[in-house]
Amino acid sequence: VEGEVRLLGPGDDAVLGAVAAEVFDRPVRPELVAEFLASPNHHIAVALDNGVVVGMASALHYVHPDKPAQMWINEVGVVPGHRGRGLGRRLLDALLEAARGLGCREAWVLTERDNAGAIRLYAAAGGREPAGEPAIFSFALAAPEAAP
Ligand SMILES: CC(C)(COP(=O)(O)OP(=O)(O)OC[C@H]1O[C@@H](n2cnc3c(N)ncnc32)[C@H](O)[C@@H]1OP(=O)(O)O)[C@@H](O)C(=O)NCCC(=O)NCCS
Repeated sequence: VEGEVRLLGPGDDAVLGAVAAEVFDRPVRPELVAEFLASPNHHIAVALDNGVVVGMASALHYVHPDKPAQMWINEVGVVPGHRGRGLGRRLLDALLEAARGLGCREAWVLTERDNAGAIRLYAAAGGREPAGEPAIFSFALAAPEAAP
């Protein structure tokens, strides 16, 4: 077992101050980190190598008016040089454990059909393919920063 995998919480902002390239799509912004970490419904697990974030998995647990909460796992990624060492699985497991602790009955994650690594990872962790296909809605916003 190599590297440290941990869930972040309020006040852990500095941990996201040292992030390897490719972990996130864009540079981390302190005000967004603060908003994320302050939200009790948002969760992020990071993999650290000598204090540098080399992988992360993020999620939202959402509540319903009538039934137990669910966790939506939003992103799972490990930098290329650290793949194949179990970090992706540990990041995923950290979120699944948090989901169970929060009383969620289900967690779900989407990936592309051709992403063999992700499909294998999710199956190995006990995930099963759901029935039905997702729909996605995109919103064009005026602010240039809002584009994907
Ligand atoms: C998918 C990803 C997170 C896996 O991270 P990782 O640290 O390499 O995964 P692990 O070492 O924990 O492997 C977990 C399992 O997945 C399998 N796996 C991981 N990458 C694989 C690959 N490219 N091909 C086949 N199997 C793979 C491992 O063999 C292992 O399965 P096992 O337990 O049956 O042996 C990583 O490849 C990645 O960041 N990819 C780019 C981002 C991405 O696609 N994220 C998912 C988007 S939804």
